[in-house]
Amino acid sequence: MSRIAYVNGRYVRHAEAGVSIDDRAFLFADGIYEVIEVFGGRLIDEDGHLERLARSARELRLDLPVAMTALRRILRELVARNRVAFGHVYLQVTRGAARRDHVFPKPGTPTTLVAFAHRGDLAAAEAKARAGIRVVSLPDIRWKRPDIKSTSLLPNVLAKQQARDAGAYEAWLVDEKGFVTEGASSNAWIVDGEGAVVTHPADSAILSGITRATLFRIAAAEGMKIVERPFTLAEAFIAREAFISGATTIVMPVVAIDGRKIGSGAPGRVALGLRAAFHDFAPASA
Ligand code: PDD
Repeated sequence: MSRIAYVNGRYVRHAEAGVSIDDRAFLFADGIYEVIEVFGGRLIDEDGHLERLARSARELRLDLPVAMTALRRILRELVARNRVAFGHVYLQVTRGAARRDHVFPKPGTPTTLVAFAHRGDLAAAEAKARAGIRVVSLPDIRWKRPDIKSTSLLPNVLAKQQARDAGAYEAWLVDEKGFVTEGASSNAWIVDGEGAVVTHPADSAILSGITRATLFRIAAAEGMKIVERPFTLAEAFIAREAFISGATTIVMPVVAIDGRKIGSGAPGRVALGLRAAFHDFAPASA
């Protein structure tokens, strides 16, 4: 079975799908994207992701080329055509193709919409969660608007590769004041000495994770204390637990930061509990 992608109104074989070399995402990373988990063949937290896509579009003065209802149909079609039970759908909107010039193309230039799906390995994801992941800290050298889910991800790409080179799965980005903002492709959390679950406020310094928002609702329902405040690396080193969240990881316990063991050095109870509860709580749409 060949993979099928969507490009500007057409379903095409993934391997043959393409856009113009004049596309502004290729030339300027002038685009936005979303990644949505598919679990049990359903789209998880779809509304949250599409609302954030609309917000990213507004912030960058980008017009979405299709209505939300059409976008929802496209995502379902990709899940069906690629027979995804567990995996992800990716969608990207760019400012379209135009002769290279930093200023926006002339009004009416169609924006580009690309979407595709990939199948994931659920057993491998669960095994990773049982083992826990290692992270390394790196300076947060991104622009001042990482709250916009833009395809300009070069600092994230470099941080992620540096983490991998150091034998870690994720990089935790640290701002100039010493606070951990978030991961290269995930939000960052700790459980402090009092048992409170702590994560950076969703201001312009981080991407306001859709998974993060669902975890807030789970924690509230289970009577956990959640505090939105910046935390330092020093605090993270002595935390009871640490973990990351995101559409591709859901909740992954962190067992070491910069080679230092966190808590007992095994995945924590809070992280594993939130992970186990996630799909019972998260809205799933067929
Ligand atoms: N990344 N912070 C950053 C920098 C991210 O790139 C992501 C997601 C998150 C978590 O957001 P959400 O819970 O809405 O997925 C936080 C996606 C998965 C990616 O780039 O692949």
